[in-house]
Amino acid sequence: MGDISISGELDRLKSESLAQIASAGSMDDVEKLRVFLLGRKGEITSRLKTLSSLSQEERPAAGAALNAVKNSIEEALSERASSMKKKEVTERLEREEFDVTLPGRPVGDGGFHPIGAVMDELIGIFQELGFSVVEGPEIETDEYNFQMLNFPDDHPARDMQDTFYVQNGARLLRTHTSPVQIHAMLKRKPPLSVIAPGRVYRCDSDITHSPVFHQLEGFHIAKDVNFGHLKGILELFIHRLYGKNTKLRFRPSFFPFTEPSAEVDVSCQICSGKGCRVCKGSGWLEILGAGMIDPNVLKAVGYDSEKWTGFAFGMGIERVAMLKYGIDDIRLLYENDIKFISQF
Ligand code: PHE
Repeated sequence: MGDISISGELDRLKSESLAQIASAGSMDDVEKLRVFLLGRKGEITSRLKTLSSLSQEERPAAGAALNAVKNSIEEALSERASSMKKKEVTERLEREEFDVTLPGRPVGDGGFHPIGAVMDELIGIFQELGFSVVEGPEIETDEYNFQMLNFPDDHPARDMQDTFYVQNGARLLRTHTSPVQIHAMLKRKPPLSVIAPGRVYRCDSDITHSPVFHQLEGFHIAKDVNFGHLKGILELFIHRLYGKNTKLRFRPSFFPFTEPSAEVDVSCQICSGKGCRVCKGSGWLEILGAGMIDPNVLKAVGYDSEKWTGFAFGMGIERVAMLKYGIDDIRLLYENDIKFISQF
């Protein structure tokens, strides 16, 4: 008959507990009940401990009954807890008000990345000089990147630029913006004044070289264009960019697509030409490559090279930016460290 009294008592415990849980008025009350019933010294826990004093035969049934009660109490507790939580949140939302008169938190101004800022400045200067902006593909063919720019198949000039090949050599990542000259010449008719800014790629990486960098190409084709026009345009440009006191120096150089070719230096921005660490004591900094467009390039796009002549130039944007802002490691321009880029 002991069984019956145990189960009678259990039933009572269960219904009393559930009733208490149902009337718990807060999260706090629910928690107190949980400790009272299921805590280490709780009603259910202490009953579970007495199971060991029962006989082998009684134990399974009594254990199962006790566990069933424990489960329904746990379930009731968690349901009550979640409805109390909802109730408390709702009450809080009703009680608290959103103060629309509080001043907002200020959001800092955004800025331009130095590469973008320099790019925009250069484009602006050349647009004022009558050049229009054209873009070309970054994935190129050997034909556009080299052949039509007068690089012969076996010419050592090809080795000047270590090229990233893709599609098993069928395509390459352009090593300079000069192939845009070809695209633009094929698409338009002379006279032409074009600039082509964009990304270029070379297998190269150290503190002044990055495998991806930016160039700005410029070229002008018309009747009777000569080297004097090229010098004039570049001088105007450099004076706008670095100020009227900046000097230019043209050194003979070689590019397959220009003849004659020159490399252009500007007087060092850091020491005004006196000689310093940045210009390695020379007072000059190389800034761009330029020259008269080789007649072979004009012929390759079907232009009459007797009738039309032109000049072209190309410069690295990173180099211009590094000189302008006195940045000595190109990698700073790509790391996007907010402490670095927010200085510009
Ligand atoms: N394409 C050359 C380079 O990447 C630069 C250049 C452009 C030189 C146009 C002459 C004329 O180095």
